[in-house]
Amino acid sequence: MEVKRLNILVINGPNLNLLGSREKNIYGDVTLADIEKELIKLAVELNINLTFIQSNNEGTIIDNIQASKNKYDGILINPAAYTHTSIAIMDALSAVQIPTVEVHLSNIHTREEFRHNSFIVRSCIGQICGFGKNSYLLGLRALDNYISR
Ligand code: DQA
Repeated sequence: MEVKRLNILVINGPNLNLLGSREKNIYGDVTLADIEKELIKLAVELNINLTFIQSNNEGTIIDNIQASKNKYDGILINPAAYTHTSIAIMDALSAVQIPTVEVHLSNIHTREEFRHNSFIVRSCIGQICGFGKNSYLLGLRALDNYISR
């Protein structure tokens, strides 16, 4: 029996394009390109097609989520600061009903109080945070496991 190849959309929100130079004490040296490279390696192993987008604009992220209906089997998202503010991204994810995992490099629950709340996770299967770039790899495995089971 042929196993279906999954299509996953990876969304990175504002300022994540600056990884590698941004607040290295919190986010380390890893760049977004490094993360994408590692995700691609894992995706080959898991038989997954990945599509990457990064945007600093809330509307662009919402447009991409809306356009993902019937196109992607899952979404892996680091909404960055929009995690804590964007009811609109939460609503877009609820609207398309695509299994989604939220990831963060840092542990948002041990940081400033305003980072403890995520609106986005309310529209997600779950959240993985605090493992640096491994949060993305764990998130992809979790998504694959959830969709394929
Ligand atoms: C982040 C955590 C957010 O609170 C912050 O605004 C970011 C990065 C993370 O990956 O740890 O931009 O999403």
